[in-house]
Amino acid sequence: MGRIDRVPPVADPERMPSTRGRVLNHAAGLYDLLSPAMMFWQEQPINRRAAGLLELQPGDLVLDVGCATGGLTESMARYLDAASGGMAVGLDAAPRMVEVARSKHASGRCRFDIGVAEDLPYGDDCFDKAASSFFFHHVDLADKERSLCEIHRVLRPGGALVVADIDVPSGWFGGLCARSGEWLFRQPEIGENIDGKLAPLFLRSGFVELETVYSDLGYVSTWLMRKSLALQPVPG
Ligand SMILES: C[S@@+](CC[C@H](N)C(=O)[O-])C[C@H]1O[C@@H](n2cnc3c(N)ncnc32)[C@H](O)[C@@H]1O
Repeated sequence: MGRIDRVPPVADPERMPSTRGRVLNHAAGLYDLLSPAMMFWQEQPINRRAAGLLELQPGDLVLDVGCATGGLTESMARYLDAASGGMAVGLDAAPRMVEVARSKHASGRCRFDIGVAEDLPYGDDCFDKAASSFFFHHVDLADKERSLCEIHRVLRPGGALVVADIDVPSGWFGGLCARSGEWLFRQPEIGENIDGKLAPLFLRSGFVELETVYSDLGYVSTWLMRKSLALQPVPG
């Protein structure tokens, strides 16, 4: 096992972990074709800016939760140097997504694991930084909070987390896009984000110094926060 693993990474690509999250295993082959258009080609620019907010150092160990085909993982890996110990770890519950991510980004700076955000297979305090884009609208409120508590657990004290996801829409265009997604995919988890239920969970899960750094398309926010350096009571 590597220096981060609490349990050995799932090796069998046929073994789908158990989760209530909306896992996109079936869509892995088409994801890179359809997803950019659904986000008006803004997904990768948002990922790149999110990675930029983390002030990554070449030797950092960083986690991408709900990585899909690894767009955000790769954006972070560009700042890292494997020879200095730097590595971006992408985690997704969809084995086929992980397979696609591995085939697209085969480098010493990236690693992709099958696993669930609400029960991360990593040890405490082991990642320098963490990120997640467009994952939190795939899980219900309880698992949004569980996943955030897990990210908080695996981050080292002082480590930064950046999250980009659907937020309360501003204006008719943002409202139309966000509500259409909720209706089209029959996804109440999107409705929770639209109703503003995600952002309060960041502080509830123990994060501090929360800022909304960017707003895009009238319905996507990018938040930056940090795990406190001070000892804190365990949330919950
Ligand atoms: C919209 S995609 C993320 C996009 C990605 N950040 C990128 O840069 O392309 C959401 C991903 O979350 C994954 N997912 C859903 N529930 C999950 C869970 N409980 N744990 C881990 N991943 C999950 C899905 O399989 C899907 O690949």
